[in-house]
Amino acid sequence: RARQHHLRIQQLVETFPLFSEVGEDALEELLLLFNPKLASPGERVIRRGDRGDSMYFISSGAVEVRLASGAVRLEPGAFFGEMALLSGGRRTADVTAVDFCQFEVLERRDFNMFMSRHPNLRAIVSEMAQKRTEMNVMR
Ligand code: CMP
Repeated sequence: RARQHHLRIQQLVETFPLFSEVGEDALEELLLLFNPKLASPGERVIRRGDRGDSMYFISSGAVEVRLASGAVRLEPGAFFGEMALLSGGRRTADVTAVDFCQFEVLERRDFNMFMSRHPNLRAIVSEMAQKRTEMNVMR
């Protein structure tokens, strides 16, 4: 059982490079906070303008983020939905599944709790959100 757990954690790090910044104990905790979610091709996962209460990590499949300037495709290892959690504001874009998808979902309260205890992870996520915001403003 312990070995199975260890394997899941290894898989998590293989799929999501950002988690290599986090220790094994913390990842074990993160596994308990994650809620699995599935989506089918064409399904809208996030609607622009909504209030957002969760962040998504893509385990398999792909989504499309629709921006004024065009679409960005996100694949396994990527995450989305972090911007509304960090800003406390509304969803900035529509996000639609373009394939059968498996996500790990982190709810706002768990996001806040976990990120406050792992500031290096928060920094990585914040930096990505910042880059995305800059990209959206520039075009
Ligand atoms: P959020 O605003 O909560 O919901 C829509 C999500 O789309 C947003 O969080 C980001 O995760 C994602 N997103 C917004 N802009 C970009 C971008 N330029 N590139 C990739 N993803 C983006």
